Amino acid sequence: MDPHMHLSPTVVVIFGGGGDLTHRKLIPALYNLFLDHWLPQEFAILGVDRLNLNDDAYCRRLRDGVDRFSRRGKTKDLEWGQFASHIHYQSADFTDAGAYAQLSEYLSKYDKDRQVQAHHIFYLATPPSLIDVIARQLHQAQLLAQKERSRVVVEKPFGRDLDSARRLNRQLFNLMSEEQIYRIDHYLGKETVQNILALRFANSFLEPIWNRRYVHHVQITVAEQVGVEHRGGYYDHAGALRDMIQNHLLQVLCCIAMEPPVSFEADEVRSKKTDVLKAIRPISREQVSQFAVRGQYGRGVVGGQAVPAYRQEPDVAADSTTETYAALKLYVDNWRWQDVPFYLRTGKRLPLRVSEVFVQFQPVPHRSFPASAYTTWMPNRMAIRIQPEEAIQLRFQAKQPGPILHLRPVQMRFSYKESFQAPPPEAYETLLLDVIRGDATLFMRGDQVEVAWAVVQPILEEWSAHPPLDFPNYAAGSWGPEEADELLARDGCHWFAPELSDR
Ligand code: BG6
Repeated sequence: MDPHMHLSPTVVVIFGGGGDLTHRKLIPALYNLFLDHWLPQEFAILGVDRLNLNDDAYCRRLRDGVDRFSRRGKTKDLEWGQFASHIHYQSADFTDAGAYAQLSEYLSKYDKDRQVQAHHIFYLATPPSLIDVIARQLHQAQLLAQKERSRVVVEKPFGRDLDSARRLNRQLFNLMSEEQIYRIDHYLGKETVQNILALRFANSFLEPIWNRRYVHHVQITVAEQVGVEHRGGYYDHAGALRDMIQNHLLQVLCCIAMEPPVSFEADEVRSKKTDVLKAIRPISREQVSQFAVRGQYGRGVVGGQAVPAYRQEPDVAADSTTETYAALKLYVDNWRWQDVPFYLRTGKRLPLRVSEVFVQFQPVPHRSFPASAYTTWMPNRMAIRIQPEEAIQLRFQAKQPGPILHLRPVQMRFSYKESFQAPPPEAYETLLLDVIRGDATLFMRGDQVEVAWAVVQPILEEWSAHPPLDFPNYAAGSWGPEEADELLARDGCHWFAPELSDR
C-alpha cells in the first residue's frame, strides 16, 4: 500500500476519549500512523468524555500516553505539535441528546470550513453497557444515516454470552448496517497473526500436508505474565474464557484451520473463518470436564517478583471464583481436520509472556534407521511465534555428525527481526487504518461473533452452575493447574514449552 494514497477526509470521534484505551493504544497508534504519513491529509480527532477539559489540557494528557506507550518512544515537540493541531475535545454526558447535537454541529462545521464531506468514525472506547446507548443517540442525531460515510467501531467484549451478543447485534442492526460496524479483536491486527495467512496461502509447500493426514495436533498458547493490573473490576466479571478464548484464541485457531479464501475480500475471508467456528464440535455440558480446564492463580513469583494471589488483587472479590486460566480441547469436524485435537490455553501470571502456535506433525510411518539412531528423535513440528520474538520455526531431523548414525532434531528459523529491518506496526495501527480505509477483513462480522460465543457457551454455563471448590489451583509463576496437563496426557500429549532465546 502506498502511504501517500488518497484517503477521504476523516474525523475520528472517540467516545471514552479520556479513558485508558485511548491513552495507551488509540492515540499512540494514530500518532504513529500520522508520522508514517498514513493518515488522510484532512483528518481530525475528537475526544468525547465526561471530564471537563479544554483542548490543550486534553492534548497534554494524550501526549503523556504517547510518550509512555508508543513503540517509537518519546514525542518530539514539532511533530507532536503538528499532530495535536488536529485534536479537539468535547465534554459530554453520553446519555444526553444535547451532546450529539453539539457533535453534529462540530462535524457539519468541519465539512463547511474545509469544503469537504468527511467520513466519520465513531470509536466506542467505552464500557460495553454504553454501546447501545451511544449507538441509539448517534442514530437519532442522524449521524449514521449515510452508510458510506459513517462507521462505528465496537471494542470487545461484544456481549458476555451468546444471548447478549445476539441481543447487541440486533440492537445495532436496528440502527445501522453490518458494513458500518467494525468489531475489534486486536489479535487480528497483529502482524504475526496476519502472517499465518501469508504463510498458508502465499506458499504452496504447506497446503498438501496441512490436514488430518499429516497433522497430529495443534496447540495454541497465549500466556501472560501480568495479572489483572488495574482491570480487576472488569476482569472479575469476565474471566479467561470470555476475555481471551472466545475471541483471540478462537480467531487464531480460525487462521490455522480455515480453508483457502477465493479472494481477500472482507466477506470471503470472514466467511471462511466462520465456517471453522461452525465446524467446531459442540461440547455438551456433561462433557465439559473432559474438554475444558479452569484455574485461578494463588500467590507466587513471576519474573523474580513476589506477586499476590488473584483474590488479593484490587477490585477482585475475596472469594472470587473467576478463572484466570483456561485450557480447552476442541475438534473441527470437517474433511480437513476431523479428529485432529486443537489444544488451547491461556492464563495470567504464567512464567512468560508468549503467544505461540505449535503444529505437531505425525510421526514417520516407518522407522528405516536402526533403533539406536532414534534416541533423541522427535516428530516434525512447526512453531509460529506470535509474540514476542516474532518467528516461525520448523523442527526436523538431521544426522548428527560422526561415524555412528544418530538423528537429532534441528530448527530452521525465520525471524521477523532478522528478515525485516522495520519494526512491525502495532495491531491498533493496522486496525485503525483499516477502518479509515473501510476494509473490514480483520474485523469480526456479527455472525462470526455469535458462533464464537456458541462454542464457549456450554462451558460458561457449566462453570457458572458449578463454582470451583479448589481455587486458587495454580501458583503465580507456574504453567497453570495440573488438570491442564492431564487434559493432554489423556491423549498421550503434553504442552510444549516455548523456545524463547531470552529466557
Ligand atoms: C485483551 C484482554 O483483549 O488482551 C487482556 O482483555 C489481555 O486481559 C490482552 O491482557 C492481551 O493482549 P496482548 O496484545 O498483550 O497479548
